Amino acid sequence: MKLEFEGEKIKIRKLKLSDAENIYRNIKDTEATRWLEPNIQHYSKNDAVKFVRTTHRDIRNKKCYAFGIALKLDNKIIGCIGLSSISWKNKNSEVGYWLGKKYWGEGFGREAIKLVVKFGFEQLKLHRIYGIISEENIASQKVLEKCEFELEGKLKDEFYYGKQWHNGLIYGLLNKK
Ligand SMILES: CC(C)(COP(=O)(O)OP(=O)(O)OC[C@H]1O[C@@H](n2cnc3c(N)ncnc32)[C@H](O)[C@@H]1OP(=O)(O)O)[C@@H](O)C(=O)NCCC(=O)NCCS
Repeated sequence: MKLEFEGEKIKIRKLKLSDAENIYRNIKDTEATRWLEPNIQHYSKNDAVKFVRTTHRDIRNKKCYAFGIALKLDNKIIGCIGLSSISWKNKNSEVGYWLGKKYWGEGFGREAIKLVVKFGFEQLKLHRIYGIISEENIASQKVLEKCEFELEGKLKDEFYYGKQWHNGLIYGLLNKK
């Protein structure tokens, strides 16, 4: 199975242990991770190494397909994207993604989502890909809308961060082929 996909300015590829430093550096950007794991303040380089190993194991076990987002220019990792919570029976999966803050607003998010959706539909033969995001995360809503995801509904108190509950929005995209 092909696990590297090229866009215009970025590519999606399997992570290597040598990417751990860049993953760590980008994920430490607290704003980039406001919506992600709560323990990000304590995220260490070793956590990035463990993450890379987990992605290899999960791909082998067909459990989750997490990749790095790299600039084509220098092959350096600027973020990550993945298809997780895969239901092979129902042919669906959740897409998740983040980019280091200094790489926002350049169309990289949109390119990455389109590439991973194509992989999910064409190679994994999924029928539906969805994203669950905080109601306050405007950037993530916009990027999914630009990738033709449709708003399907609101999930009350889906997230707990900053010592309070936040609603989630679920966006979905069907494989029409
Ligand atoms: C969500 C994220 C990946 C978006 O990536 P990005 O590369 O900055 O987005 P793009 O540049 O591809 O933008 C796609 C569209 O969304 C719009 N958009 C992006 N950020 C926006 C913002 N903060 N406010 C309003 N619109 C925004 C862009 O204007 C663009 O539309 P356009 O083509 O009409 O200009 C990035 O903001 C990020 O990493 N955020 C933190 C992590 C996160 O929230 N992950 C998702 C958790 S569910």
